[in-house]
Amino acid sequence: MNNKPGKPFFYWKDTPLSFIEGESIAIALTRSGIIDFGVAQNGQIKSIFCGIGQCQNCIVLVKGRGISEACLTLCQQDMHTQPISETSTCQTGVK
Ligand code: FES
Repeated sequence: MNNKPGKPFFYWKDTPLSFIEGESIAIALTRSGIIDFGVAQNGQIKSIFCGIGQCQNCIVLVKGRGISEACLTLCQQDMHTQPISETSTCQTGVK
């Protein structure tokens, strides 16, 4: 667990991770040492690449939002996120 008392946190695969206000999911994950955001259908590891919403290499599933670019989506307190590869057909929320 990377969460410290008093710091905001979100969840990655049910694990709380701290974030800094204004930080994207991709940056918060990377800062926590997580660079593997899931596996694409072609077998390649998803992670941050362009950082500007163009490559779609960082997409993750955000509860209540569905599929989202981790590089563009800001972390929010108690937000639940997970790799898309761990879901089946879920489009609207974390399983
Ligand atoms: S890193 Fe390219 S869209 Fe997010």
